[in-house]
Amino acid sequence: MTMKTFETNGAYSDNYKFLIGSILPRPIAVISTRNLDGSNNVAPFSFFTGVCASPMIIAFCPMIRSSTGSLKDTPVNIFREKEFVVNIVSESIIDKINLTSTELPYGEDEFTFAGLTPIDSVVVKAKRIKESLIHFECLFRDRLSYGDHPGSGQVITGEVVRVHIAEELLENGRIITSKLKPVGRGAGNDYFRCDDVFTLERLMNAQIQK
Ligand SMILES: Cc1cc2nc3c(=O)[nH]c(=O)nc-3n(C[C@H](O)[C@H](O)[C@H](O)COP(=O)(O)O)c2cc1C
Repeated sequence: MTMKTFETNGAYSDNYKFLIGSILPRPIAVISTRNLDGSNNVAPFSFFTGVCASPMIIAFCPMIRSSTGSLKDTPVNIFREKEFVVNIVSESIIDKINLTSTELPYGEDEFTFAGLTPIDSVVVKAKRIKESLIHFECLFRDRLSYGDHPGSGQVITGEVVRVHIAEELLENGRIITSKLKPVGRGAGNDYFRCDDVFTLERLMNAQIQK
C-alpha cells in the first residue's frame, strides 16, 4: 500500500475535505437556540461529541461561515443567551433537518421554514424539536476559539442539565438503537443509516456499559 502524505498549510478546503472524509460516520447535533427577537434558530452540526458524564458535557464545533467570514447564528445566540438545546436526529426527520442548514436571514424562524414543531423546554428558553426523540437542554460552559477567518472555528461545550427521551426508545433503561434509528453524516452530502449494528464483548470486568 502506498500512502499519500501532505502538509496542512494549504487551502483550508483541502483540509476540510479530509476531515469530513476521514472522521465518519459523524453523529449529528441539531441545535436550537433563541434569536434576539425571540424567534427560533435551528441548525445541524456533525462536528459533535459527548465529552463526559458527570458533569454531563457535550461539545460541538461551529466553523466560521465561509460565505461571509462571520460567526454562524447558533454560536452568536449561545454566547448571548448562555443556553441551547441539542436535538438528536432520526431517519424520519433527516430531510427536515437538512433544510435547517439553509442560510436564512437572521431572525427568520427555522422551525417554521423546515416544518418542525417547537415545544417548551423545562430549564432553558430555547425550544425543543417535538419530532426529535431525544433532547438535551444545555447551559453554555466553554468556548475554545481557533481564529475568526474562513476555515477556522471553535469548540463550544454545554452542560446538559435536563434530558428528554421518547419512552418507546427504552428497554430496561437502555436506548435501543434500532428504535432510535439515528443518522450519521459522511463526506459531501452523504449520510449513514445505523441498521447494521453488531456487538463485540470486551475483555474486562468493570464495564460502565453493563
Ligand atoms: C448534517 C449537517 C451537519 C453540519 N455540521 C456542521 C458542523 O459541524 N459545523 C459547522 O460549522 N457547520 C455544519 N453544518 C452547516 C450548518 O448547519 C450551516 O452552516 C447552518 O446554516 C448554520 O446555521 P446557523 O447560522 O443558524 O447557526 C452542517 C450541515 C449539515 C446539513
